[in-house]
Amino acid sequence: MLGEIDEELLRAVAKYLKRVERLASSEQADQRTKLGALMSEHLGVDAATLPIVTEQIAAHRFVDADLALDALTRENDGRVIGVTGGEQRLHSSLAELITNPYHPFAEGPVSYEARATGPGTERRVVSFGIRLLRIDGVPLVIVQRGASPQHGRETAQLEVLSADEGLATESVRRMRQLMIEHSVLRGKVLSFVSNEYGQDAGASFLARPEVPAEAIVLGDGVLESVVDHVVGIGEHRQALVEAGQHLKRGVLLYGPPGTGKTLTVRHLLSRTPETTAIVLTGSSIRFITAAAEIARTFQPALVVLEDIDLVAMERAHSPQPLLFEVLDALDGLETDADVAFVMTTNRVQVLERALAARPGRVDLGVEIPLPDAAARRRLFRRYAASLPFSDAALDSAADRAEQTTGSFAKELMRRSVLAAALRGDGLPPTDEDLGAALDELLSSGAALTRLLLGGRSEEAEADDGEHVHYEGEYGTF
Ligand SMILES: Nc1ncnc2c1ncn2[C@@H]1O[C@H](COP(=O)(O)OP(=O)(O)O)[C@@H](O)[C@H]1O
Ligand SMILES: [Mg+2]
Repeated sequence: MLGEIDEELLRAVAKYLKRVERLASSEQADQRTKLGALMSEHLGVDAATLPIVTEQIAAHRFVDADLALDALTRENDGRVIGVTGGEQRLHSSLAELITNPYHPFAEGPVSYEARATGPGTERRVVSFGIRLLRIDGVPLVIVQRGASPQHGRETAQLEVLSADEGLATESVRRMRQLMIEHSVLRGKVLSFVSNEYGQDAGASFLARPEVPAEAIVLGDGVLESVVDHVVGIGEHRQALVEAGQHLKRGVLLYGPPGTGKTLTVRHLLSRTPETTAIVLTGSSIRFITAAAEIARTFQPALVVLEDIDLVAMERAHSPQPLLFEVLDALDGLETDADVAFVMTTNRVQVLERALAARPGRVDLGVEIPLPDAAARRRLFRRYAASLPFSDAALDSAADRAEQTTGSFAKELMRRSVLAAALRGDGLPPTDEDLGAALDELLSSGAALTRLLLGGRSEEAEADDGEHVHYEGEYGTF
C-alpha cells in the first residue's frame, strides 16, 4: 500500500523520466543525417516527424513506375538525388536514412539499373534514388527502390513523405494512373522472368511472331474457328457489347504433340498486332494472377497458357491446383473485358475433370488432331517447297508416314537435305534421299525420335500419351 509521500515521490520520478526522454529526443534531433536535413529543408518540416506512405511495385511494373515517376518529377520541376553510404544505405530503412548517429548519409549519386522495355530495348531505371518535388506547391519526397531480395526487400517499393498526408496518398494514385498511360507493356508480347526464389523478377519481351494462315495445315475450318473466336470477337466488340454479349473468352487447343497448337497460337499473335499478349509456359503459369491483371488493364489482351497439363495439378500460391487458379482468373475478369485466354495441352484427359468442375470458363475446345493422309500430303509439299523432289515421291512418302505430325514432315526434309550434303558431291537432294531419310525415321531404331517429334508411338497409344512431350517452339518466338 502506498502512502501519500510515496505517491509524491512517484510523481517526481515520473516527471524526471519525462525530462530525460525529452532530452534524449532533442539529442536525436541533432543526429539527423545530412540527407535527413536536406529532406527536412525541402519538406519545410522535420522529415523524421512525418508518417511514411509505402507503396509496393510488382517487378514487372517497375519500368512503368520509373516512367511515371519521371513524368511526375518533370511535370513538377522536381529532381532526383542519390545517397552515399554504399551497402549500408541498402540495408537502411527510410527512418534510418533520416536519423542516424552511426552513418552520416548524405546526397550522392543516383543508382540505376537496366530493364527491358521491349524485345531488344532497354531503359535505365532508378534502382535507388530520392525524388524531391512539389505538387501544387506542396513539397513531397519519394524514395524509389528496386527489389533487392538479398537485403530483405522482396519487391520494389516507394516511400512517400509530405507534411500534407492527403497529398502523399494522392501522389501515389496519380502515379498509378501515369503507370498505365506510360506503360511499356501495352501492345507487347511478354512473359515473366522469375528470380532464383521463383518470384516475379520482371517482364521479358518477345518479338511478335509472323506466322501467316498459309503456313498452317489443318483440317477444313479448324483454324478459322479458332481465329473467329479469338480475333473475330475482338474485331466485333462494338456489336457484341451493344447486343449485351460478353467479350471475354477461353479457348482450349488440344491434341498430340507436334500437330501445330503452338504454331496456331503464334498465328493468333501475328493476327493481333495491337493486342497485349502474355505468354506463360509450364511453370511460369503460376504468374496467372498477375497476367490476368495485366490483361484487364491493357485490353484488348491475349493470355496464352502453353502446355497447361504439365502444371495443371500443381499448387503454387493457393491450396487449390493451378488450373483452378487459371479458371478463377478467367472468371474474375468482367464479362465485357476484351480478353482471350488460349490454352494448349497434349493431354486433355488430365484437365477434363477440373474443367467440368468449373464449367463455362472455357467456351471453345478445338482438337488439333494428327493430320490425315490429305493433310500429310499438304504438309510434305509445304516443307519441301524449296526442294527438288517430285510430287509423286512426296505423295508416296506422305502416304507411308502414317501417324506422324507436321513437325515430323519438317524434320524429314531437313534430314533429306543433310543426307545430300553429307554425300559431298554438291548435288541437291533427290527423291532417293527423301525415301532413305523416311526409311530411317520410320525404322524401329528411331522410335524415340518419332515420339519426340510428336505423333503416336505404339507405347503412347497403349496408355494414351502419358509420355514425353515435344515442348513446342518457344525458343524461336
Ligand atoms: N499443322 C501444321 N501445319 C504446319 N506446320 C506444322 C503443323 N504442325 C506442326 N508443324 C510444324 O512443326 C512445328 C512444331 O509444331 P507445334 O505447333 O510446336 O506443335 P504443338 O502442337 O506440340 O504445339 C511447327 O513449328 C511447324 O514447323
Ligand atoms: Mg506446343
